[in-house]
Amino acid sequence: MNILHIDSSPMFETSNSRKLSAMVVALLQERYPGCNILHKDLARDPPPHLTQDVYLAYRRPEAELTPQQRRERAVTDAHIEQFLASDIVVIGAPLYNLSLPTQLKAWIDRISQPGRTFRYAERGIVGLVSNVRVIVASSRGGLYSLSEEGRARDFQERYLLAALKTLGIAHIDIVRVEGVNMSADRRAEAYAKAQAAADDIVSSILASRPQWQRAALV
Ligand SMILES: Cc1cc2nc3c(=O)[nH]c(=O)nc-3n(C[C@H](O)[C@H](O)[C@H](O)COP(=O)(O)O)c2cc1C
Repeated sequence: MNILHIDSSPMFETSNSRKLSAMVVALLQERYPGCNILHKDLARDPPPHLTQDVYLAYRRPEAELTPQQRRERAVTDAHIEQFLASDIVVIGAPLYNLSLPTQLKAWIDRISQPGRTFRYAERGIVGLVSNVRVIVASSRGGLYSLSEEGRARDFQERYLLAALKTLGIAHIDIVRVEGVNMSADRRAEAYAKAQAAADDIVSSILASRPQWQRAALV
């Protein structure tokens, strides 16, 4: 089983999303001892932001691409191939200014490409990614999930769910630590809840696999 472990926080030692994504990956590793893990650090090695060349590299016939567009196409292809080769993608996602860090948005801009991960059909966009499962490890200083008003202001989890579903991904779980900047007690409680939620998610993934695979994995 291939796991793609993505971190996107520009913070390192103090990062909550990194701590949380590592916790989820450790649980997966415990349950799937033979799994392959690829760690991708979007803060240390950010995908260059979207430009016209990035865009055109996937929308012009290959023979007409400029050298720069060819280079961009190769970078985008590498991101897409890593993504599509994964059974599970764990995304460490901090909430910054009600949204995502730009490093993570730049990665989504790379992997969202017509003909590879989605296509245009008569009824709109159709996702082409059916085999990848995603666990979002979300961290936020305040509280959002507990009220309608909070959820409406949360453009991080809502955006990630919408963007990944657009690509066809049906199984998306969210593990979150929320209110981490409010108090030490609140933070400790958030981690305890997240640990239990991650445990349930990892168990449900195992239970959803066919019996012969389960026998080989446990
Ligand atoms: C630039 C910046 C913007 C932030 N914006 C928000 C915000 O809009 N809402 C919130 O609840 N917390 C906000 N926070 C707090 C972070 O969500 C919190 O520190 C979380 O742990 C970030 O994940 P990280 O530690 O992995 O970087 C912000 C923090 C930073 C550094």
